Amino acid sequence: MNKSLRKAVIAGNWKMNKNRAEAKALIAELVPLVSEAGCDVICCVPFTDLETARKAADGTNIKIGAQNCHWAENGAFTAEISAGMLKEMGVPYVIIGHSERRQYFGEADETVNKRVRAALDAGLTVILCVGELLSQREQNITGEICAMQTKIALQGVSKDALKNIIIAYEPVWAIGTGKTATSEQAGEANGFIRGVVEDLYGKDAANAITIQYGGSMNAKNAEELLDQEHVDGGLIGGASLKAPDFAAIVKAASRP
Ligand code: 13P
Repeated sequence: MNKSLRKAVIAGNWKMNKNRAEAKALIAELVPLVSEAGCDVICCVPFTDLETARKAADGTNIKIGAQNCHWAENGAFTAEISAGMLKEMGVPYVIIGHSERRQYFGEADETVNKRVRAALDAGLTVILCVGELLSQREQNITGEICAMQTKIALQGVSKDALKNIIIAYEPVWAIGTGKTATSEQAGEANGFIRGVVEDLYGKDAANAITIQYGGSMNAKNAEELLDQEHVDGGLIGGASLKAPDFAAIVKAASRP
């Protein structure tokens, strides 16, 4: 982290976990544990939990996010949710391009770009996920993959709109596997992605953008990962479902 240049952000990605009663209980447990946080704290919850989570977090420093949104304002897109619908609910954040969407639901770089632009147009802040597969790391094309995903996702996004984007570097092989990237691997990839942003938008914009790491980040390894200059926070899956674990990661990101 380099807090003199940019914001530290810890976001939980609950994925398809927690019903409304469980969501309410988890946020209630989290509220006192993170009330003194020295970083932004976000919980990205299933669509069905948004209203409950928003109410539970009302008046606290916890912000609520969704895990996807569609690019159209409305229309015949069965089961999709528009960015405007999220905005109208008072949901300020949305994850876009998560590798599970790419792997299981046919998400492509081009559709990620459409979703990113629609979310920004609606006034949401985007957590944009990029990251390579294990086979791609083994072929030494991690940089190429991250550059391509980042560049296509940001096509048509203005420098001003970039202020409402957080990038999450999530190596697919580290997600839900217990295999964390080493802090050096995370730092290197995040630094590389910052370089891509610099090529597109210049040094000031690159220095200011928050780039998280995600993939088996937990209470034990958070400090070491966050000590990397280019790791400005985390996108947390499994460990975000347990309040004490998530709070410990928030604490690690709250250090000066
Ligand atoms: P885990 O922390 O469970 O590995 O998940 C990471 C992730 O996919 C966050 O978006």
